[in-house]
Amino acid sequence: MAGEVALVTGAGSGIGAASARRLAAEGAAVAVTDLAGASAQRVRDEIVAAGGQAVALALDVADEAAVRDCVARVAAELGPIGVLHNNAAATALSGGGGDAEVLTMSAELWDATMAVNVRGPMLLARAALPAMIAAGRGSIVNTSSGAAAAAEHLRPAYGASKAALESLTRSIAARYGPVGVRCNAVAPGLVLTDTVRGPGRGLRRMRAVFAAHTPSPLGTPDEVARVVAFLASDAARYVNGVVLRVDGGMGAAQPYLADLLGRHAAVENAPTVLS
Ligand SMILES: NC(=O)c1ccc[n+]([C@@H]2O[C@H](COP(=O)([O-])OP(=O)(O)OC[C@H]3O[C@@H](n4cnc5c(N)ncnc54)[C@H](O)[C@@H]3O)[C@@H](O)[C@H]2O)c1
Repeated sequence: MAGEVALVTGAGSGIGAASARRLAAEGAAVAVTDLAGASAQRVRDEIVAAGGQAVALALDVADEAAVRDCVARVAAELGPIGVLHNNAAATALSGGGGDAEVLTMSAELWDATMAVNVRGPMLLARAALPAMIAAGRGSIVNTSSGAAAAAEHLRPAYGASKAALESLTRSIAARYGPVGVRCNAVAPGLVLTDTVRGPGRGLRRMRAVFAAHTPSPLGTPDEVARVVAFLASDAARYVNGVVLRVDGGMGAAQPYLADLLGRHAAVENAPTVLS
């Protein structure tokens, strides 16, 4: 990644922060952007303290003019963007934030979800593509979710937005792959961010569910970031238009079969089986 310029959205926390740290550790100059400017600044300071190169910018990905200005500013400060990680999502709207079911869905909630999760990545890609096309190389990585491929009962807007993002991923890959710009997505399963780790979220039970269905423990933000860095790099130069699940195998399973066969003892005994 040496000599590369990367822009990461939603990089003030969770997976985006891990991606910014990893891309910087691998040598890229990183634009750490987030709606929460102070969070972006904190991550930028950590990167610089660790010897990396980074700038922090407040950015609402749904704001067309702000996206244009941000990309121009990053190009002026760090150089043309070669890697774009579209990671920001309106996560606060999904888990208990109103995105619960179609029957009670407000049109405003739907529009706000789509604005951040789909319009945002399109605006960022539109702004970053000209320099990538001019250079004849570039890599866009979008953060999707396992929720794009299978319903979760309680996040229809979120799931639909991630499915749309995966479609956008393929459109960009098909159209600009021939001129050297790749576009791929990662689809994380449940990842242990600070929010997911937080009190009252039932971490022990989550671990037990994963133990019952996959050979893997819950993922960490850096485990997703490593895959983002791979897709962003030339090591993945023949990988274009894919959605790569990073979920420890959870999406490969059909959990209902385990349920039918009663193979969920680890879940039932979670308080005693797992620490
Ligand atoms: N954590 C998981 O288990 C998980 C699983 C699957 C997919 N994802 C996806 O991973 C990505 C990162 O999620 P996370 O878990 O790290 O969440 P997070 O809530 O920790 O981080 C999201 C970040 O996006 C920022 N953000 C929100 N709205 C924004 C906007 N309009 N413009 C710019 N930034 C904005 C927030 O300030 C926050 O820093 C998201 O796309 C999410 O859908 C997460």
